[in-house]
Amino acid sequence: MRWARYVRLIRSVTQLAYELEEERRKGRGIALVPTMGSLHAGHSSLLAQARQSGRAVVLTIFVNPTQFDDRSDFDRYPRTQDRDLELAEAEGAELVLVPSTEQMYPPPDVVRVTASGPLTELWEGASRPGHFDGVLTVVGRLFGMAGSCRAFFGEKDYQQLRLVSALAAEMFPLVEVVGCPVVREADGVACSSRNALLSSEDRRAAAVIHRALLEGCDRASRHGASAASVEAAVRSRIEKEPRAEIDYVGVVRIDDLVPAGELVGEMRILVACRFGPVRLIDNVALSGAAPEAGAGAGAGEGHAVVGRRTAILSSQDDD
Ligand code: PAF
Repeated sequence: MRWARYVRLIRSVTQLAYELEEERRKGRGIALVPTMGSLHAGHSSLLAQARQSGRAVVLTIFVNPTQFDDRSDFDRYPRTQDRDLELAEAEGAELVLVPSTEQMYPPPDVVRVTASGPLTELWEGASRPGHFDGVLTVVGRLFGMAGSCRAFFGEKDYQQLRLVSALAAEMFPLVEVVGCPVVREADGVACSSRNALLSSEDRRAAAVIHRALLEGCDRASRHGASAASVEAAVRSRIEKEPRAEIDYVGVVRIDDLVPAGELVGEMRILVACRFGPVRLIDNVALSGAAPEAGAGAGAGEGHAVVGRRTAILSSQDDD
C-alpha cells in the first residue's frame, strides 16, 4: 500500500511506549495527535503543526466507545483507515497507533477518569452525559503511554480542549497541550468527521452555524450589546434555517465556560445544533472590554472585538 512506505503502523500500546522511549533516547521530542480517524483538513492542520514542532509525529486513531453516550452514534461513526493512513503519511506522521479496544482498555479495566466541575457539567457535558469521562479516560491512557510530549487538539471541540488541558495540568505535568484553530470549509462549516454523515441538504444547511456565529460577533461589536443580545442574534439566525435544531447557544467566559453576564474579557460563543441525526458543534472567539474597565461606566456595553482564529479552506471537499 502507498502509505506503508514511510508511516509505521503500530497496534500495541506497549510497543509504542517503547518506541517513544527510544526516540527520546535519541534526543527527539514527541508530538502527539490523538484522533478517532476519519481524518479531514482539520486533522491535517493538527499534523502540520505537530510536524512544525520538529518532533517525531505520532498519530493515534481509535474510535473510543466510552465517550459515546449513544450506541448508534458510535456504530455510525465513519471509519476510513486506509485513507487515514495515506493522509497521515502525506502530513509527515512517523508512527500511527491503531489499537484494538482490548489494547486501550486491557482487562481488568479498573481505572476510569471522572470529570467534575463547571468545565465539565455545562454544554457538551449536559447534553452528552458521561462523554467527558470517556474522553478523559482515553486521553489519559494516551498521555500515560506517550510520556513527555506536546499534544495537539483542535479548538472546534473547545470544551474538550479545556478539559484535556486541565487533565494534563493535574495529572501529566510532562504533557504540553497545544490548541489549534478551527479549520473551515469554504462555506464556513467547521471541518468534522461528522460532516460526512450529513445528507446533501443538511450539509448545505449546516453553513448557517458559522453565519450565525459571525452575526453574533457582529452584534457584540455594536453599541449597547450584551451577552444576552449576542446569544439571541445567534439563535434567531439559526432558527431561520428549518433543517437546524438548536441544542444550545452560549456566550461563555473562557476561564470557566460559565455564561458571560457581560461582554468583558475573553469569551467564546458556543453552538451545538442537530441536522437530522447528525449533531454538530462549533465556536468562535470573542473579546470584550478589558476586565479592569468592567468596574466603571459603560461596563458590559459591548464594543467587543472578534478573534476569528480560523483557517478557511478553498475547496469544498468534506473530508
Ligand atoms: O476529538 C477527538 O477526536 C476525540 O475526542 C479524542 C480527543 C481523540 C479522544 O477520543
